[in-house]
Amino acid sequence: MLLDTFGRSHNYLRISITDNCNFRCFYCMPEDDYDFTPPARLMQKDEIIHLTKLFVDLGVNKIRLTGGEPLMRKDAGEIIEAISSLPVSLFLTTNGTRLHEFEATIKNAGIKVINISLDTLNREKFLLLTKRNQFDLVYKNILLMIDKGVRVKVNMVVMKGINENEINDFIEWTKNTAIHIRFIEFMPFTGNKWTSNKVFTWEEILGLIGKRFSFVPLENDKNDTAKSYSIEGHLGSFSVISTMSAPFCSTCNRIRLTADGKLKNCLFSKDETDLLTAYRKGEDVINLIQKNILNKKKELGGQFNNDYENLNPEIISNRSMINIGG
Ligand code: 5AD
Ligand code: SF4
Repeated sequence: MLLDTFGRSHNYLRISITDNCNFRCFYCMPEDDYDFTPPARLMQKDEIIHLTKLFVDLGVNKIRLTGGEPLMRKDAGEIIEAISSLPVSLFLTTNGTRLHEFEATIKNAGIKVINISLDTLNREKFLLLTKRNQFDLVYKNILLMIDKGVRVKVNMVVMKGINENEINDFIEWTKNTAIHIRFIEFMPFTGNKWTSNKVFTWEEILGLIGKRFSFVPLENDKNDTAKSYSIEGHLGSFSVISTMSAPFCSTCNRIRLTADGKLKNCLFSKDETDLLTAYRKGEDVINLIQKNILNKKKELGGQFNNDYENLNPEIISNRSMINIGG
């Protein structure tokens, strides 16, 4: 069991399998030319599988594949297949553009829930946010997955002045569609133009929804980052993720492996442990993992607190989101 000094047990590993992406979302990718990691510096398929097995031996039973865009990787299908044969529940976070090519893989791997990023229901705004004109494809693939019996959770990063006016359009979408919308507070990462006045808090989100709909809380699991709600008369549901205004670090069970094989014990951790290099040199990786977890900070990587209104994002030392994997 991967216990840290605060008694938290880490059974949930998020693996980024590439930092490549076919979108250019400004809140995720730094503005200046971003160089994707050269393939030789990425974990190779067999390395991913070997490292994953070590984590499973240490008690990990939940795995999420992330990116960049995970389905951009040429051998994504083989990686999904190999990991699905381990004793874990497997999840995927994707921008949705390639899901139609992975229908069979998803079915064979038994993936039952997929998180798809979609921050707007407006075609023009989609182009502004992602710099790609692919709203229709993503929307179609969301419906395709639902049709195939996969539970779809839509990740909507709420940014004040950009898309908070669409929150109730997303709620409207849940009326006749069995979809779950996750409203995520905008978080600061390197190069993503975060300012505190762009944060639209979970309280503001609930306030806005409450003006038009009545909703009731659903039961949550202890480790859930999201507080979920159902809406009267709607097939779908929604949740809010309050990282900035009300962090939920005390029940955190998550660790992350970056595409270049570094272990991050928090989304905002400054320190990383280079497992891939150690593995390539034949060193004791298990010991490195355990040490990394023991160094996990109590809250938000030890870099800030919930006083986000006074946060200067420059003081945070981290990667950009595309490079972490969400
Ligand atoms: N703030 C909040 N959520 C973010 N994501 C990416 N960047 C940010 C950010 N700055 C979310 C996206 C994506 C997931 C991987 O992380 O919604 O779906
Ligand atoms: Fe790509 Fe997702 Fe980042 Fe957008 S948020 S650039 S889709 S990885």
